[in-house]
Amino acid sequence: MVVWTDQERAYIQDIFSKLNYEDAGPKALQRTLIVYPWTQRYFASFGNLYNAEAIMSNQKVAAHGVVVLHGLDRAMKNMDDIKNTYTELSVLHSDKLHVDPDNFRLLADCLTIVIASTMGTSFTPDVQAAWQKFLAVVVSALCRHCRLFFPDYRPNTSVRNTWAAAKKAYLNLCPAAVKPQDTMVAWTDEERAAIQGVFAKLDYESVGLESLTRCLVVYPWTRRYFGGFGNLFNAEAIMANPNVAAHGVVVLQGLEKALKNMDDIKNTYASLSELHSLKLQVDPGNFQLLGDCLTVVIATRLRTEFTPYIQAAWQKFLSVVVSALSRQYH
Ligand code: HEM
Ligand code: HEM
Repeated sequence: MVVWTDQERAYIQDIFSKLNYEDAGPKALQRTLIVYPWTQRYFASFGNLYNAEAIMSNQKVAAHGVVVLHGLDRAMKNMDDIKNTYTELSVLHSDKLHVDPDNFRLLADCLTIVIASTMGTSFTPDVQAAWQKFLAVVVSALCRHCRLFFPDYRPNTSVRNTWAAAKKAYLNLCPAAVKPQDTMVAWTDEERAAIQGVFAKLDYESVGLESLTRCLVVYPWTRRYFGGFGNLFNAEAIMANPNVAAHGVVVLQGLEKALKNMDDIKNTYASLSELHSLKLQVDPGNFQLLGDCLTVVIATRLRTEFTPYIQAAWQKFLSVVVSALSRQYH
């Protein structure tokens, strides 16, 4: 059974008590469909999902967003037995709807962004840690039925890397002579403007510190890489740690290099990727986690300005960064 501290229960209940289901539910589902367009295929009966505007004004999407939040509400009311509470819902999503379970994580992440942009700075690292633990249990319970029938199935920590994994498998099958060249990422003018707009609003010192802090608090195993940084005992200690603050700025400056070389992020990051793999031996799954924490911090800062369109461009940028950083591991 999952063990919850009183503090975690209090944080999660507090989030639900402040949640406006009619607002947050639709926004979370809209973002999922816009940022991860392959999720649209499950909602064919919902009518027009042709583009972002259509999704935003689709009443069925809005209504279903509220249904999803009421589904989550059941987990909050049964925190000590989420697994059994979700038996039917897990069977429905697996057997009837055939939802790829990796998508649960994506919807959960979009809901986190909506909550972060609504709560702002009161969505602290400790609150986020409790919330992400709750969502991880929900996702695992929803995936349970799928796992019973496909015991080898393991949800990806990052479905966003699925494309890269498929491409790698394909390349491995190809004889060397016919291996295609790496294709360049194409950016629209709107995407470039959106990403530059986000950077222009970032205060590197506070955003860098908070992103790295969240990563170390929400995913505590990442602390092991920073053994030389001194006291990382809890959120307060991490926030007050000057080494974390300095390194947060270094990470953002590293990201800025990608921004300035958007058409060749892969080569721009060749030595950084080598450093993280060969010297620091950072598990590449962690790049996504730090990227996710940075996205949450951005949502708490930009709030309603962090629209689904901007999020979509931003997440594309981060996925290219993560893939480039992971490149020397292949
Ligand atoms: C946090 C994760 C999720 C929760 C809590 C959740 C909850 C629910 C609930 C409560 C229902 C209504 C069940 C009923 O009518 O008895 C539902 C239906 C459905 N869900 Fe999910 N869901 C989640 C994730 C997803 C994802 C990721 C997808 C696909 C990308 C998805 C696709 C659907 C579809 C297609 C339906 C049926 C919609 C309809 O025809 O009305 N769900 N979900
Ligand atoms: C968005 C992803 C990331 C970016 C852009 C990034 C960027 C950087 C940069 C620019 C440096 C300094 C390199 C140098 O000194 O030449 C660095 C160092 C380092 N990074 Fe990352 N990094 C990322 C993710 C991570 C993750 C996820 C971890 C571990 C969980 C990590 C652990 C480290 C460590 C331990 C160092 C050396 C710190 C020191 O001793 O000063 N990095 N990173």
